[in-house]
Formats: sequence, C-alpha cells, structure tokens
Amino acid sequence: MHKLGIIGFGGMAEGYHYATTKRDDIDMETVAVYDINPDRLAHAEELGLKACKTLDEFLSEHYDLVVVATANNYHCQMACAALEAGNNVMTEKPTAMSSAEVETMIETAKKCGKFYTVHQNRRWDRDFMIVKKAFDDDVLKLPYMIESRIQGDGGSMTGWRSQPDHGGGMFLDWGIHAMDQMLYLIQEPVKTVTAVIRSITTTLVDDYAKVLLTFESGLAAEVEVSTFILKKLPRWSVFCKDGALQVDEISSQYGSLRKVTKCEYQPYDLLAYTDLGVVHRTDKKLVYESETCQYPDIALPQDWAVLYKNLINVIDGKEELIVKPEQVLRCYKVMEAAFRSSREGVTVNLDDRYLSEYKKLGE
Ligand SMILES: NC(=O)c1ccc[n+]([C@@H]2O[C@H](COP(=O)([O-])OP(=O)(O)OC[C@H]3O[C@@H](n4cnc5c(N)ncnc54)[C@H](O)[C@@H]3O)[C@@H](O)[C@H]2O)c1
Repeated sequence: MHKLGIIGFGGMAEGYHYATTKRDDIDMETVAVYDINPDRLAHAEELGLKACKTLDEFLSEHYDLVVVATANNYHCQMACAALEAGNNVMTEKPTAMSSAEVETMIETAKKCGKFYTVHQNRRWDRDFMIVKKAFDDDVLKLPYMIESRIQGDGGSMTGWRSQPDHGGGMFLDWGIHAMDQMLYLIQEPVKTVTAVIRSITTTLVDDYAKVLLTFESGLAAEVEVSTFILKKLPRWSVFCKDGALQVDEISSQYGSLRKVTKCEYQPYDLLAYTDLGVVHRTDKKLVYESETCQYPDIALPQDWAVLYKNLINVIDGKEELIVKPEQVLRCYKVMEAAFRSSREGVTVNLDDRYLSEYKKLGE
C-alpha cells in the first residue's frame, strides 16, 4: 500500500484527498498530516492518522506522495521542503503565487529526483470531458471560438480566499481550473492575451475575470470566471465552421450539438432595386442547413480519482504524469499575462522567447 502524507488538513484535504484514499480501488492510504491548527490535528488523530505539530516531525517519515493543501501562499515553500526530504509532491491548485515559484518547484523536483505535479482535478469534469471528446473524436472541425464560463451568483470570496497575501481571488481560485482545461484542450502556442479582471462585490481581491486568448493557428478562446452573474450563460459554447456545441452546466452531461448538413451556393433569384431601375441579381449566396446531432457521450462517470490512479502508476514506474509540470508553467505564464493585460489595459503578446521555451518544455 502506498503512503500519503498531507500538509494542511482542511476542507479539501479531508473531504477529498483523505476520502479518496479510503476508496477500495485506490492503492494508497493517508498515514500522517501536518497542520498549524490544533483542532485539525485533534480531528486527524480521531481518524486514526498521525498528527504532526511540526513540519520536521512530519518530514521525518517517508511518503510515496505528499499532498500540499494549505492556503495557496504556502504551497511552494511546503512543496520544496517535502521534495528536499525525498518525497514526490502534488500541490493543490493554484500551485503557486507566481510562475517563478512554479519554476522553483520544477527545479527542486529535478534536483531531488522526485516528481512535482498539481491537483488539476477538473480535467475530469464531465462538461470538460464532453468538449475534449468532441475534439479528440473529430466530431467538430475547424473551431474558431471556444468559450468557457464558470459563473456563480453568491459572491463567494471569503476566508483566506479574500486575502491577497494568501493568494486569494477568483481568477487564481477558479481561473486556474478553467485556464488549465483550455490549454490542455488547445495544445498550440498562445499568441496574445487580453483580460479584464475586476472586483465586483469584493474589496481586496478580484471576483470577475474575462480573458481572450488567440492561438498560433488563429483559433480564439475565452475564459470567464465570476462570482456574481445573476443570469447565467452556458458552461461551454464551441463554435466551429461545421457546427456548434453547447454544454449547459458544470459537471453536467446536458447540452446540444448542431452540425452543418448542407452548404452550397444558390442563385439569389431576387429583384434588386438600383438607381438604374429594377434588375435581377445574378450573384449567388451561400446557403447553410444544419441539424441537431448525436451529442458526444462519455461512457465513464466523472471521477477525479483518475488522477490518483495515474500518480500511483507513476510512482510504480508504469505511466507518465498526466498533469505535467511544464503544462503548469505554461498556464502560469498565460495567467500572469492576463493579470498584466488587465492591470495595464493592453493586449500582451507572448513573445518568441516564451513560445520557443514552451515548445522546448513541451517536447
Ligand atoms: N482542486 C480543487 O477542486 C480544490 C477545491 C477546494 C480547495 N482547493 C485548494 O486546496 C487548498 C486548501 O483549500 P481548503 O478549502 O481546504 O482550505 P482550508 O482553509 O479548509 O484548509 C487549509 C488548511 O491548511 C492549514 N494551514 C494553513 N496554513 C498552514 C501552514 N503554513 N502549515 C500547515 N498547515 C496550514 C489550515 O489550518 C487548514 O486546516 C487551497 O489551495 C485550495 O485552492 C482545491
């Protein structure tokens, strides 16, 4: 049985990571936790876990995997300490406060001969898997705009998520999921980033972000995350030359697909009224017909633990990481470009140096 240690035993750690290791089909058990909150340590003990009061005590044991699930600002420092102590590490998202911190974790993992990855569990959300399947199976061709929206209505930036020093704000909290999905879907270099990031109901951190990305091929994509939208739009709208796909809601299997069935030139067969009098139009017009088609069906239920199964196989030398550090770094470069675009009111061109770096990292 593989051993998991958790740093930061709060809501996500207990509700998801610890709970996942209780599943029969996950060959990993949570053995120890470290937290600064004595109440959380007492609770961990009640669950039969070793509850460590200091990081040194926690790191005196070896784990197959350490999950870092503290508030965001501690991720890098905790991840590096766990890597240096000889453990593989997965941080929660958002993995860091900056791309420089991501680079530090990548370098530290390399130096220590261990892996570093991030819990980008929403790659296994049903809504996203439907869109990805449509692309992978060529159900839709020639996309020109992909829109992804996560729209809440409760204004939900509270606790440490409302504090800039802790890496709060909606764009880091949910934007990182939406951006990771988009860049995982569209595996080509980003050319430009234009963003509007605002505070609508918050004071210290953002709670609304809309980012327009353009890619090398000309394809464009829009990512929107918000906490205060009272009239919601679909989770995904995908517009292609040969059709359009809509997924209604997050984790949902419902939506629709329309595809072009006929596209041909036809005579106008019309009279045109001109200065010279009434004439017949001789030019032709493009006529489209479309119909509702079989919506992409994904056989598997939504199950984030696919990521855990991958990690266990990576530890056993059977698979590669699905969430690769270079993908995480790429995502951070784009997120940072979005923050800059919004701050300075400009479109940020991701320069050749960055693109060649990305190509090298992605090799
Ligand atoms: N992937 C997802 O779907 C998802 C969902 C929710 C939260 N998260 C992420 O999980 C992380 C934790 O979020 P949460 O909602 O569980 O927060 P939380 O506040 O419930 O838990 C954080 C825990 O970390 C502990 N902690 C804080 N600073 C610490 C430190 N320096 N050393 C040790 N322990 C420390 C706190 O005492 C607390 O128990 C965040 O990064 C968050 O973004 C991810």
